[in-house]
Amino acid sequence: MAAIKGPVLVFVLAMAFGCVVCYDRPVARKDVSIPQPKELSPTSPQQVHASVVGADKMRISWITEGSAPAIVEYDTSPGSYSKSATGSTSSYRYLTYKSGKIHDVVIGPLNPNTVYYYRCSSDSTREFSLKTPPALLPIKFAIVGDLGQTGWTNTTLEHIRQSNYDMLLLPGDLSYADFIQPLWDSFGRLVEPLASQRPWMVTQGNHELERIPVIHSTPFTSYNARWHMPFEESGSSSNLYYSFDVTGVHVIMLGSYTDFDPASDQFKWLQDDLGKIDRGKTPWIMAIIHAPWYNTNTAHQGEPESTLMKKFMEELLYKARVDFVFAGHVHAYERFTRVYDGNVDNCAPVHITIGDGGNREGLASKYMYPTPEMSIFREASFGHGQLEVFNATHALWTWHRNDDDVSVVADTVWFTSLSSDPACKL
Ligand SMILES: [Fe+2]
Repeated sequence: MAAIKGPVLVFVLAMAFGCVVCYDRPVARKDVSIPQPKELSPTSPQQVHASVVGADKMRISWITEGSAPAIVEYDTSPGSYSKSATGSTSSYRYLTYKSGKIHDVVIGPLNPNTVYYYRCSSDSTREFSLKTPPALLPIKFAIVGDLGQTGWTNTTLEHIRQSNYDMLLLPGDLSYADFIQPLWDSFGRLVEPLASQRPWMVTQGNHELERIPVIHSTPFTSYNARWHMPFEESGSSSNLYYSFDVTGVHVIMLGSYTDFDPASDQFKWLQDDLGKIDRGKTPWIMAIIHAPWYNTNTAHQGEPESTLMKKFMEELLYKARVDFVFAGHVHAYERFTRVYDGNVDNCAPVHITIGDGGNREGLASKYMYPTPEMSIFREASFGHGQLEVFNATHALWTWHRNDDDVSVVADTVWFTSLSSDPACKL
């Protein structure tokens, strides 16, 4: 018998051990820390990021080391700022750390699908630009959780930048500062090149809690101070859960680490919010959580933020015909079929775990066997997802694996909206 060599041997072994696609995973990469640039003055804006507010406004958030005005000047040509808006400034303390001045200004009304040029705190040394989402479909979302700030995060961010996305959705675990507050500043500087150019809409994970019994008992201090999301506009009483409409899609950001039982404010708010959705205006609905409700990785099994939240809230999302539930927390990628109450159901949401941004804790590489029928694709690699919603009926989901600095499309699937499926009419 001829000798079996190289790729042939790999294939034979792969088939023998049940691995259809063998993948040599690159080694872990170190944390990156982005220091404050020396050329920045105490009044220079840094950590600039944008988020949508209502139909035609954007919130610009940034930090200065010293006192500076909370003003954003903007217009549609570089170097020309005929419009301006003012906002508020805050700061927070965490143990011995005192934050810089955190500025928060809402600009608009803005035209859709338009590039605006802006400066913050009247600082003429740094001009930023920002593209607003389109008024009409199509729209492209970049979706990635558990981002962190490592060499892999850098690669993920570069791949997202190249995608020419319209909006980023982040299902929790942002900076992995984990009580070390200067790492929040480092994270702000790391994501600024992207987050100042497109709206970044986030929800929180366990790494945002930063609660220390007795010493610092208030949770989410840094997250809430730095990442003000448009909760007021959606009738929510908390920055930890909110919703918004963008280009034919209703996006619901839920809080896995705040109360979600039927007596909670979040539960009642979700009921109200789902009841107000106009499927003629937003034919697609997606929900974003941190701890996944469906998960066949051995990591994070049985946590109450997964099991109880699913128990209490899954029926609400199912009956509203939510199309997608995106989660993070498990540092890997997994796509399920449409599933409700543990069973395949053609009128239920597709659940996707996308907690593979590149954080310092590494990948969750152990899975449960045999693979359940409802788990369609699972892989422990870093990467990110893109959801391109083309029209009221069709959307394309792609998962992009980070493979030696190259973005590789490893999973692709077309989805049809539940609102267009006569069999799913309520
Ligand atoms: Fe997490």
